[in-house]
Amino acid sequence: MKKQCYIRGFGAFVPEKVLTNFDLEKMVDTSDEWIKTRTGIEQRHIVAEGQSTSDLTSQAAEVALADAKMNREELSHILVATCTPDAYCPNTACITEDKIGLKGRMALDLSAACSGFVYGLKLASSLVQTEEDANILLCGGETMSSRTNWEDRNTCVLFGDGAGAVIISATPTENSTAVVDVELSSDGSLRDLLTIRGGGSSLPYKVGQTVPDEHFIMMQGREVFKHAVRSMVGVCKDLMERNGLTPDDIDMLIPHQANMRIIEAVGKKLTIATERVFVNVDKVGNTSAASIPIALGQAKADGLLEPGKNILLTTFGGGFTWGAALLRT
Ligand code: UT7
Repeated sequence: MKKQCYIRGFGAFVPEKVLTNFDLEKMVDTSDEWIKTRTGIEQRHIVAEGQSTSDLTSQAAEVALADAKMNREELSHILVATCTPDAYCPNTACITEDKIGLKGRMALDLSAACSGFVYGLKLASSLVQTEEDANILLCGGETMSSRTNWEDRNTCVLFGDGAGAVIISATPTENSTAVVDVELSSDGSLRDLLTIRGGGSSLPYKVGQTVPDEHFIMMQGREVFKHAVRSMVGVCKDLMERNGLTPDDIDMLIPHQANMRIIEAVGKKLTIATERVFVNVDKVGNTSAASIPIALGQAKADGLLEPGKNILLTTFGGGFTWGAALLRT
């Protein structure tokens, strides 16, 4: 029989520096009004000079450890979902492990763009099945500002930096949250619609070359928008049906925080009332793989994860990748 797995601690961390829409008005040809109307975003957090993704994931991990009331020595695996790692090598999980004062664990980065955290939930749930006494630190962390073209108004207004973390374990505690089910999907034929291609083996840099635009996020926004809504709605319906739930049974929907219009469209098509849909995109922007764990960390800190609730997570990102997860508090 499959072992149930549980989230024992949640943590969110965003860097101190805030970049408002008014700040962006001074950088590119845009306006607070356009950004708010088209995306719902008012501000985003941006790392300070020298701060990297592992600084954010390690801080979120500390919050999750405190929330779980767990000794860090009990952690058995470190997983970090990111598309903006500190470096190509070593991975950000190893650096996070070091920054929280540990060594000797399995430490692995996961690459599934904005869907990385929900992909990580599935991987962590599988590890819990096979490993004795696993306590898995799963982080989603991004420094999107490092891969943002600050001259491209189509993308630079959308993204923010931050990290979230959870600790997943086979052992429940009084306030732990069950990971009931996860469903994932992908379609690589649509990979060029949302990409950070430059610097990879398909477009390597040459010594002395000026950094080309492909180093930064490139997106065909309208196409991504359509696929995002369709895919998230479809996977949520499948997951609810498989678990015998209707939209009325969902106490909180936490969609990937990409754009307020996408969030509203997903809620509406799933017939989940606005007041049951979690939103923080206005304050943090699109933080890619950090989006859902930041939302979870903030929901926990705000007392929104009381016992007995069905929480539906759904995500969509480059690849394309998408998925949904059902949690029971
Ligand atoms: O994390 C998962 C992946 N990302 C997403 O899910 C994002 C998905 N896409 C979106 O959220 C939206 O498509 C955007 C917010 C990116 C764009 O909104 P849109 O309503 O699809 O606008 P658009 O791209 O069709 O552009 C409309 C107009 C264009 O001008 P013209 O050609 O009509 O004259 C753009 O040049 O808005 C212009 N525009 C801007 N104007 C002011 C684009 N960006 C800006 C800007 N400020 N920042």
